[in-house]
Amino acid sequence: MKKSVKMVGIASLLIGLLTGQTVLAQSKTVNDGVFTEAQVSAGQVVYDSSCKTCHNMRFYRDTLKSWNNQPLLYLWESIMGTMPADNPGSLMLDDYTHVIAYILSENGFPAGDMKLDPDNGMDQIHILSP
Ligand code: HEC
Repeated sequence: MKKSVKMVGIASLLIGLLTGQTVLAQSKTVNDGVFTEAQVSAGQVVYDSSCKTCHNMRFYRDTLKSWNNQPLLYLWESIMGTMPADNPGSLMLDDYTHVIAYILSENGFPAGDMKLDPDNGMDQIHILSP
């Protein structure tokens, strides 16, 4: 008996967390200032040393186009899992985040007060075609 009461307590706590999160996490787009200037500057350093050799900015523009409407987190995961092609996953997690901020900035999306963070709402930010 005691055990089942505890289980119910845990279950409702989980449901509360889940629904709370759904309410808090509003759907955004990359046009809503979802990364900071500091992340863009940090991303440029990563980009120049690890991404520039194989793709030009045109390539990233086309990538954003083909990812139109997809959650930004998926692109982050895709890049993290496959890039740089000669050494996938070799960068720090923050580096992948920053490089995305830089690519978005270069494609005309605005920086803002919100820090881009794969653990915090990035699945609710949707990519737009530049
Ligand atoms: C050694 C060469 C090389 C480097 C360095 C490299 N890439 Fe790639 N990248 C590739 C190749 C090859 C592909 C797959 C073929 C294609 O789409 O052109 C690719 C594909 C991609 C895609 C398309 C993924 C998709 O699903 O649409 C993205 C985005 C990308 N790279 C981002 C990056 C980023 C960001 C960096 C730096 C962290 C980077 N690449 C570094 C070679 C490279």
